[in-house]
Amino acid sequence: MIYAAITGWGKCLPPAVLTNDDLATFLDTDDEWITSRTGMKERRISHVEVSELSAVAAARALAAAGKTAADVQLIVFGSTTFDEMCPNAASNVQRLLGASNAACMDVNTACTSGMYGLSTAAAMIKCGAIRSAIVIGAEVVSKMMEWSNRNVAVLFGDGAAAIYLEASDREEGVIAESLGCSGESRDILSVQGWGTKYADKKRPFGNTTWQFLGQDIFKKAVAGMSRACERVIDKTGINIEAIDLVVPHQANLRIIDTLTKKLKLPPEKVFINIERYGNMSAATALVALVEAVEEGRVTPGCTILMPAFGGGLTWSAHLLKWGLRTQPLAQTDIELPPNTRTGLEIVNSIRNPA
Ligand code: UT7
Repeated sequence: MIYAAITGWGKCLPPAVLTNDDLATFLDTDDEWITSRTGMKERRISHVEVSELSAVAAARALAAAGKTAADVQLIVFGSTTFDEMCPNAASNVQRLLGASNAACMDVNTACTSGMYGLSTAAAMIKCGAIRSAIVIGAEVVSKMMEWSNRNVAVLFGDGAAAIYLEASDREEGVIAESLGCSGESRDILSVQGWGTKYADKKRPFGNTTWQFLGQDIFKKAVAGMSRACERVIDKTGINIEAIDLVVPHQANLRIIDTLTKKLKLPPEKVFINIERYGNMSAATALVALVEAVEEGRVTPGCTILMPAFGGGLTWSAHLLKWGLRTQPLAQTDIELPPNTRTGLEIVNSIRNPA
């Protein structure tokens, strides 16, 4: 039996920070509302395109795995925000990395894109089609945001993470997953103006209207993630006590707390970083996983449960077994191009283009 071990990990968060107080300079909102309703304090705003963020995260993951770009046989780019629709973003990551042996695909399942990407790449390794892959979860939502809509503008941020997978004889990596979609509810989280359906309308691409029924999404998120977790638990027969760490999608601290209670998970086993980044959509779960490794929360051989949900409404849960190594084999000095603007300055330039 071939497994798909996770042997490298890296993240790339753009340096510009947008605080709750920054948002209150142009929206009828305040730090108290955002913090108490969501758990978010600040988020990052990117000064570069999503494939550039992703290439840096991927280079860091490659270094952590002790591999070179030539070793990569597949790049799966999970996102909802592509710097170009054609050619795809994965091909730009390939070019920026110099990973010329890699096949390249984009996967879009909204916030679960990185996790669906993980399933895709792991399955291709397990069936023997490839021996290695980079899986990316990345998002530059700021450029597509409806910045005048306080219902959504306060919730999102930009970021990227990547993991390196390689074939292994040891039982590690994705042990089981459950993926699904409640398509009948797809209209409760939709972004109008973002696709060919709107191409005949007189609005520039990127000028969006977010249709977002927060409370419905909240309930369906909890239902979808708990259903996916229960299926994974049933499938593997694992005891909930045997799960060492839970790394959930971070859309709202109250969603995570409700899920934690519903599944009777000990809160101290749940990794949370929402206060620093908000919801980075496809990047969220993988950035959280990378930070859990960096902060020593992932220990050798530990078992990790990763529930997620997103527009569609897609939902997923993955049960991972980590390998024996939690330290990177090497590091790279690769960095993003320098940024001179604050998060608020970048957002204001998107809101009021020159
Ligand atoms: O990853 C997928 C994407 N994210 C999600 O799916 C998020 C899921 N939903 C949620 O996280 C929560 O439903 C929200 C954070 C979006 C909203 O929290 P809520 O507790 O459900 O608030 P609400 O929608 O019931 O709104 C309560 C009040 C309303 O005012 P009234 O009608 O009571 O006077 C809103 O107009 O809060 C108002 N409000 C705000 N006030 C200050 C809504 N947004 C804001 C804001 N600042 N940013």
